[in-house]
Amino acid sequence: MHVVKTTLRQPSFMVRDIPIYGDLILSPMAGFSDLPYRLITRDFGSAMGYTEFVSVDGLLQGNEKTRRMLDFDPSEYPITFQVFGSSEDNIVEACKMIEPWGPTIIDLNMGCSVAKVSGRGAGAALLCEPSKIGRIFARLSKELAVPITGKIRLGWDDKSRNYVTVAKTLEDNGAALIAVHGRTKAQAYTGSADWSPIAEIKQTVKIPVIGNGDVKCVADIKRIKEQTGCDGVMIGRAAIGNPWIFSRKNRHQVTFEEKAALIRRHFSLMLDYYGKYGLILFRKHVVKYISEIRGAATIRENFVTASTAEEFIAILEEAEAQNAAVYQLKAA
Ligand SMILES: Cc1cc2nc3c(=O)[nH]c(=O)nc-3n(C[C@H](O)[C@H](O)[C@H](O)COP(=O)(O)O)c2cc1C
Repeated sequence: MHVVKTTLRQPSFMVRDIPIYGDLILSPMAGFSDLPYRLITRDFGSAMGYTEFVSVDGLLQGNEKTRRMLDFDPSEYPITFQVFGSSEDNIVEACKMIEPWGPTIIDLNMGCSVAKVSGRGAGAALLCEPSKIGRIFARLSKELAVPITGKIRLGWDDKSRNYVTVAKTLEDNGAALIAVHGRTKAQAYTGSADWSPIAEIKQTVKIPVIGNGDVKCVADIKRIKEQTGCDGVMIGRAAIGNPWIFSRKNRHQVTFEEKAALIRRHFSLMLDYYGKYGLILFRKHVVKYISEIRGAATIRENFVTASTAEEFIAILEEAEAQNAAVYQLKAA
């Protein structure tokens, strides 16, 4: 008998009944993890998408800008809608409202440190009230069909690193996954991320744990996995201007031609999705794409002052020509 051998790809982990193929994930990032950039990072290997966080109050008020932040493309499945809010009832009501819009998963943000979120009882402020977290997750997991997940920090400040309590509360009340940024709210983005609490959480709960914080290069991916045993790794700032990290390639291994080709593609997706406003929104990406190339300061200046798409493309073409000339000079 002739036996055909197949090597079916195994999922890296499951979010309840949803298989996740791959262990690297683009972090939710307001202003960055929008539809165009998620499409790009998925192509490079990000295993799932998280939207930018959206306000449950904005959703309930029918705010069109908020609604649009939950746009996604079916090719992105599995896609996670991330929400933030403070009122239990509003969180539950908004999640029930958006569930029919088609997310694979809904995630509650419990990590945002910025004052206008955490100062109003949302984001990381929820960490101060584990029993409220428990009530919210109990209701969400009972009232919704999709898996519910949470993204947390280690606690409010150094004196209240209650991550084990929060993680247990999440699991006991039906959360299907926990993503952990290894800093407290008080730290914001200062100091360095502490990965040992992620290992502690991983040993405490049975649901998948995603490690996050200061994964800056390919070697860090291996380090955080080894040090924490986490099921997946979430990459935020180091992925801006560097989707290659999801293919386990460092920024300096990417050629100028590859960068230029991706700038074109990303820019075109931005124009398709945002119209001419895409030019302005793309500036923060382009400066990151070119940050490590020769003559970056001048090119950056030109890119950020371009006022039309044609001007932008002309600047890119000039940079490509200059790069080709330097390359030829070197080869001669
Ligand atoms: C510009 C920016 C926007 C962010 N927006 C969100 C967000 O919408 N939701 C969220 O859970 N975390 C958000 N974060 C936090 C990141 O998801 C991540 O936890 C944090 O940046 C640490 O990971 P990193 O060191 O890989 O950047 C944001 C971070 C940055 C830098």
